[in-house]
Amino acid sequence: MSPKNQQGQKKLADEMKNAMRSLGATVSIVTSVKEGSRYAMTATAISSLSFDPPALLVCVNQNTGMHEALSDGNDFCVNALNSHQEELSENCAWKLEAGKRFNEGNWKTSKSGIPYLADAQVSIHCHIDGSYDYGSHTIFIGKIHNIINADHIDPLLYLNGEYFTRHSEKKS
Ligand SMILES: Cc1cc2nc3c(=O)[nH]c(=O)nc-3n(C[C@H](O)[C@H](O)[C@H](O)COP(=O)(O)O)c2cc1C
Repeated sequence: MSPKNQQGQKKLADEMKNAMRSLGATVSIVTSVKEGSRYAMTATAISSLSFDPPALLVCVNQNTGMHEALSDGNDFCVNALNSHQEELSENCAWKLEAGKRFNEGNWKTSKSGIPYLADAQVSIHCHIDGSYDYGSHTIFIGKIHNIINADHIDPLLYLNGEYFTRHSEKKS
C-alpha cells in the first residue's frame, strides 16, 4: 500500500473510532481459561447471533490475551455488568494486569472450569463454535449452553467514552 493510501486508511480508522462512540452498548467482561490460567477482558463488541441454535458472537482484538485463550478453542462466558460494576470494567480493560483481574469481584467457577461473575446482570456460558479473522480482530461464535440471569435489568452502559445507567445518570 502506498504511503498516501496508508495515511487515508489511518484517517478513516480514526473517523470510525470516533463514529463508534455514538453506538451505546452494555459493558461485559468476557472470561475464559487457557491451560489453567484465567483470562478476563472488558468488551462491548458482542451481539446476539442465532436463536436456533442459541448463539452469540464476540469481536476480539488479536493483540489481547483473550484472543490467545479463545483461538485455542476454550469455552468462554459473557458477563454483562450491573450499573455498579464500573470498577470491574476498568480493571479488565486497562487498570489491572491480566494476572490480577480476578482479585476484585464476586468471581465463581462453573462446572466446566470457566470463571464467571456471580453478581453480573447475566452470565452467558458458551462453547466456541467457529471463528472468522478480519483485520485486527477475530469474530468468535459462542454456542450457548447455560445462562444465569439476575432478576432485574440495570446494566452498565458505555456511550461516547463514558459510563451510564439506564436512567441516563452519568457515572463518570
Ligand atoms: C468499554 C470498553 C469496551 C471494550 N470492548 C472491546 C471489545 O469488544 N473487543 C476487544 O477486543 N477489546 C475491547 N476493549 C479493550 C479491551 O478491554 C482491552 O484491550 C483488554 O483489556 C486487553 O486485554 P489484555 O491486556 O489482557 O490483552 C474494550 C475496552 C473498554 C474500556
